[in-house]
Amino acid sequence: MMLNIIATILISSFFTFVNSVTFKPVAPPTYPLAVRNPYLSAWMPGNQIAELASGQPEFWFGNPLNWAIIVRVDGHAYDLFGVHGSSSSSSAATVVSAEYTSTHSIFNLGAGSVQFTLDFFSPVSLTNYVRESLPFSYLTVTATAASGSPNVQIYSDIDETWTGQNASTSATRSVAGSTSILTLNADNAATYSQSADEIALWADVVYASRPVNGSKLSVATGSPDSVRGSFEKNGSLPTSASSWTAGDVAGIAHDLGQISGSKSVTYAIGVVRENAINYLGQAQTGFYRTEFSETSDALNHFLDDYDAAIEESDGLDSTIQTTGASVAGSNYSDILALSLRQIFGGVDVTAESTNSSTPLAFMKEISSDGNVNTIDVIFPTLPFWYALAPNYIRLLLEPDMAYMATGRWPRQFAIHDIGSNYPNATGHDNGAEEDMPIEESGNILILSYAYQLATGDTSFTTKYSALFKQFADYIAANGLYPTNQLSTTDGLGSFTNMTSLGIKSAVSLAAYGKMTGQSNYTSLGRSFASTINTIGTGIFTSNATDQPYFDIVYDNTTWYMQFNIMPDKLLGLDVFNQSTFNAQSAFYPAVRSQAGVAIEELAQWGKTDWQMWCAAASLGTPTGNATAQMFVDDLHAFMANGMNTIPFSDRYWVDGPQVGEGVFRARPTVGGHYALWAMKEGPAKTKR
Ligand SMILES: *[C@@H]1O[C@H](CO)[C@@H](O)[C@H](O)[C@H]1NC(C)=O
Ligand SMILES: *[C@@H]1O[C@H](CO)[C@@H](O)[C@H](O)[C@H]1NC(C)=O
Ligand SMILES: *[C@@H]1O[C@H](CO)[C@@H](O)[C@H](O)[C@H]1NC(C)=O
Ligand SMILES: *[C@@H]1O[C@H](CO)[C@@H](O)[C@H](O)[C@H]1NC(C)=O
Ligand SMILES: *[C@@H]1O[C@H](CO)[C@@H](O)[C@H](O)[C@H]1NC(C)=O
Ligand SMILES: *[C@@H]1O[C@H](CO)[C@@H](O)[C@H](O)[C@H]1NC(C)=O
Ligand SMILES: *[C@@H]1O[C@H](CO)[C@@H](O)[C@H](O)[C@H]1NC(C)=O
Ligand SMILES: *[C@@H]1O[C@H](CO)[C@@H](O)[C@H](O)[C@H]1NC(C)=O
Ligand SMILES: *[C@@H]1O[C@H](CO)[C@@H](O)[C@H](O)[C@H]1NC(C)=O
Ligand SMILES: *[C@@H]1O[C@H](CO)[C@@H](O)[C@H](O)[C@H]1NC(C)=O
Ligand SMILES: *[C@@H]1O[C@H](CO)[C@@H](O)[C@H](O)[C@H]1NC(C)=O
Ligand SMILES: *[C@@H]1O[C@H](CO)[C@@H](O)[C@H](O)[C@H]1NC(C)=O
Repeated sequence: MMLNIIATILISSFFTFVNSVTFKPVAPPTYPLAVRNPYLSAWMPGNQIAELASGQPEFWFGNPLNWAIIVRVDGHAYDLFGVHGSSSSSSAATVVSAEYTSTHSIFNLGAGSVQFTLDFFSPVSLTNYVRESLPFSYLTVTATAASGSPNVQIYSDIDETWTGQNASTSATRSVAGSTSILTLNADNAATYSQSADEIALWADVVYASRPVNGSKLSVATGSPDSVRGSFEKNGSLPTSASSWTAGDVAGIAHDLGQISGSKSVTYAIGVVRENAINYLGQAQTGFYRTEFSETSDALNHFLDDYDAAIEESDGLDSTIQTTGASVAGSNYSDILALSLRQIFGGVDVTAESTNSSTPLAFMKEISSDGNVNTIDVIFPTLPFWYALAPNYIRLLLEPDMAYMATGRWPRQFAIHDIGSNYPNATGHDNGAEEDMPIEESGNILILSYAYQLATGDTSFTTKYSALFKQFADYIAANGLYPTNQLSTTDGLGSFTNMTSLGIKSAVSLAAYGKMTGQSNYTSLGRSFASTINTIGTGIFTSNATDQPYFDIVYDNTTWYMQFNIMPDKLLGLDVFNQSTFNAQSAFYPAVRSQAGVAIEELAQWGKTDWQMWCAAASLGTPTGNATAQMFVDDLHAFMANGMNTIPFSDRYWVDGPQVGEGVFRARPTVGGHYALWAMKEGPAKTKR
């Protein structure tokens, strides 16, 4: 009865807001639907929400992923989600509300006397590598009767857009226990090969569900006319099996019969790669396969794990909301919530066959160039791992470190990445790659010390002590006056004497000194900092605003965002003086463009991860709270400006003709958004 009352309120509020959708907390550029790793990455652009019934889900790349949901209420069919070329026998359900949390995207729609809730749930686990690595995501459809006992059927399908090509797809049906599984494969695809739009061609795409509490389940593949048509007319699917033809759909229907109150069905969507990563010629598999070596067992475990995954996710959603808001207000927690699935959506947690003692994590440099475990893409995510899951710093660095420790990497400085094209982590034995000598050597030292500090574990820093020494000595010799080279903002080109790299050298030497208890390295870092402060006209080149700031290259008045001072404060290294932090914090508001602070004076674009790093570095200064709030509100305004339909972009136009538009998409670097949290809260209270 209570449910009926709630449903009545929901349905009547829908009539109050005809054609207007309620967004909670705000309307994001894109809703994560199934976002778990670089190949299970389905999103619904925010501009499709009002017309969700015919909305077009997309892969992170922007290519369509067809995923449809149709229901029947007392014999009348309604399109809820993703139905194109809708038949005359169905009508579009009306969207009432759209919500996102850290782990769920939830849509409510009204269809006749029934309220439907679509809950797209991509679990995130900070501690459980099995749960985190399962390459599946949940879709739960809940029907709530406003009154009476309507007769309800629920149907959903996918098609070959998920396999990365449509020319030659195979479909198989199987049953494991009570679970019905539809599997789609691209034919004749090479292991580890991608389509032009970066879908994993060698993967098994699975769609599965189980009957619930006496519901009847039917499964079919065939043309949309025959499969959807049968559902719309009969509430069940045709039994005849035919081989897959381009344009077919793979659908699963539940006949719930008459319902009173609420009833839910859950689907699992997945992209399974038994050979997940090619690591130096050896296959790494999803970590979950150390416990479930068959996909059907993994899938059944995933469905069995639903309640536990919900419990963990509820805790995480609530922590991120509450702590995020206490750190920098609800605008900040809105940003953090939208970032969480995207961070893990760039990562695969793996193991070598069944050996669970050596978990590794691989991160894809999504949308910029597809490199594997790029050190300067891991680096901006440092705040997230440091604050919430420091173990991942080790899992992410281990593949690069272990490779360099083999001696196959021929250079003195650290490698940029361990493979040019995900998932081929095949190293660079010939030394040819996108070199960033100071950048990556310094990043590894800072990341590794952060790991040691947060976890208290010295085994990783001990294991690779020879490499750490090599990088520290390289920086000691080359870091104060960096030769002409790239830094992480490679889009700006290479520079000689780049101040940001000098700062990185100073900070990373101190980190190495602390890591190893060798105070001579810490002192050297501090002396680098003092020198940088007095080069030429001094580090604080003042122009007419009389506002001191760091320049882009030594003795040059053009300013640049100096995010590299952030870890100095985060890790308590005492390299730069408080006056430096005070000056930088006071400077940024003075150079804010129309939609935020640019990466440098001559650019019209900004980087959201570095903006949050600079916000964090500002805390604790006289102007710090206001500066941090400016950065947070600008990022929130960009996120919610309604102009973007791509997964959360970490690079956007802060000025110029495209002001407010995002450039990159779906990159895990949004982990940098947690910088204020990391600075205020420190490492996870519970070691992970
Ligand atoms: C595959 O999809 C492309 C683009 O969507 C389309 O042009 C082509 O005709 C399709 N091919 C087949 C065999 O369906
Ligand atoms: C990875 O390497 C395999 C050959 O081992 C190749 O077939 C595949 O296309 C490569 N993948 C990418 C994304 O370049
Ligand atoms: C199963 O359905 C019956 C009848 O609708 C209901 O009373 C019961 O609570 C349901 N059980 C579960 C576990 O949902
Ligand atoms: C509906 O079911 C009936 C009886 O099972 C069958 O004859 C008919 O072909 C079905 N209609 C569709 C559209 O599949
Ligand atoms: C698992 O890997 C660890 C570390 O490489 C190794 O010591 C151990 O022997 C392996 N276990 C098995 C069962 O292969
Ligand atoms: C780098 O900066 C130092 C200090 O200002 C200067 O002496 C040196 O000439 C610069 N190097 C180059 C190549 O410009
Ligand atoms: C620091 O001292 C150690 C010996 O205690 C020495 O091996 C190392 O070269 C020194 N490094 C620097 C940068 O001074
Ligand atoms: C810090 O301040 C002291 C005293 O003003 C100065 O000597 C030193 O060079 C400064 N160091 C840095 C890194 O700014
Ligand atoms: C001083 O720097 C600020 C910030 O870059 C800039 O807006 C202003 O035009 C500069 N003034 C002069 C005189 O260079
Ligand atoms: C400072 O150096 C950068 C990079 O070389 C250059 O683009 C910029 O014009 C320089 N600024 C000044 C004021 O010389
Ligand atoms: C900044 O905010 C913190 C916490 O809200 C407060 O303790 C601190 O005094 C503020 N700092 C300044 C300079 O206002
Ligand atoms: C939150 O950000 C929005 C821009 O999206 C801004 O208008 C608003 O003032 C901010 N709210 C708070 C409480 O700071």
